[in-house]
Amino acid sequence: MLAGVGAALVTAGAGVGGWRAASGSMADYATYAARLRGNLAPPDLQAVVRYATLAANGHNTQPWSFRLETQAMEIRPDLRRRTPVVDPDDHHLYVSLGCAAANLALAAAATGRPGELSFAADGGVRYDYLPGQPRLDPLVGAIPRRQCTRAEYDGRTIPAAVLAEIERAAATPGVSLALVTDRARINRARDLVLAGNRDQMNNPAFMHELKQWIRFNPRSAMATGDGLFSAASGNPVLPTDLGRFAFDRLFNIAEEDRKHARQIDSSAGIAIFFGERADPEHWIRVGQACQRFALAATHLGLKIAFINQPVEVAQLRADLAAVVGETRRPDILIRFGYGPALPFSPRRSASYTSTA
Ligand SMILES: Cc1cc2nc3c(=O)[nH]c(=O)nc-3n(C[C@H](O)[C@H](O)[C@H](O)COP(=O)(O)O)c2cc1C
Repeated sequence: MLAGVGAALVTAGAGVGGWRAASGSMADYATYAARLRGNLAPPDLQAVVRYATLAANGHNTQPWSFRLETQAMEIRPDLRRRTPVVDPDDHHLYVSLGCAAANLALAAAATGRPGELSFAADGGVRYDYLPGQPRLDPLVGAIPRRQCTRAEYDGRTIPAAVLAEIERAAATPGVSLALVTDRARINRARDLVLAGNRDQMNNPAFMHELKQWIRFNPRSAMATGDGLFSAASGNPVLPTDLGRFAFDRLFNIAEEDRKHARQIDSSAGIAIFFGERADPEHWIRVGQACQRFALAATHLGLKIAFINQPVEVAQLRADLAAVVGETRRPDILIRFGYGPALPFSPRRSASYTSTA
């Protein structure tokens, strides 16, 4: 749909030069994304914070700030970056902090700052250094390579030993994980994703909020360093005005439904995460678990994508939980499988305040 609009505009006279000026180039974007994902070198605190910011996070709002002390680091919620329509109780915001905390702990330990995570009473996460040797976990290498890959996968089954290794890496106190690889239950979850998608796309407030976070081209993705870059979701790049126009007028629910269905049908399985309790501490724990799940999957050559619609649409949560015989609130739904790589998503440059 968007590709058709793009071609029409070019032939209508905007011209390739004008198009490029308005959108920026994918080559420049690739250089930008690679720089963000360089090694942990030099192995300083700037690099540790940069690795923390490469974590998964809802709508790529990056709702965090970092504070460094002499013997500790803190990740604090940045409530200016809330998404109140899709995430009215800040559930995703705290899960996102947990994802960043998982990366931070791995990167800090790899650069000679082993330590442990705890939960600050004000909703933040604390990482206190402990004496010990640097710890180079293989998951560290996956941090810059992990992405949410919103593409069709190749349908291949995953060996049981590989799944067991991912499950082990994701194990986190206070969180349980249900892995589903049989088609009957994947189909039940898929139908809930489609129901959630329809509900959200019919909600003007949801669509308005989503549109604010879409970056339709490399130029705007690099300028803000946040948001959902269209190419990272497998969509074509467009000048911003045209992208917004297309988003308002041409987004088609039936087409989106078919795309989600194809993507889930091509996946090897789904993972559903449940926190023991529904509070910020447990949402942070869930974030740690699902980030570690994604890193282990990446390390083992798999791709993952969040398909959280039946978590975000509150009235679908019980049905999603029932797919795996649960009654608690489900926190995160992820699909996984073998698939292609897409362009990476942007990040704001890593910054922190220091009281050291
Ligand atoms: C709590 C949470 C919920 C998310 N929900 C969705 C979702 O429903 N659909 C989706 O496509 N991506 C979802 N994501 C993925 C983010 O959009 C993604 O992590 C972000 O855009 C950064 O991209 P990256 O993970 O590829 O670096 C979610 C991520 C988190 C942490």
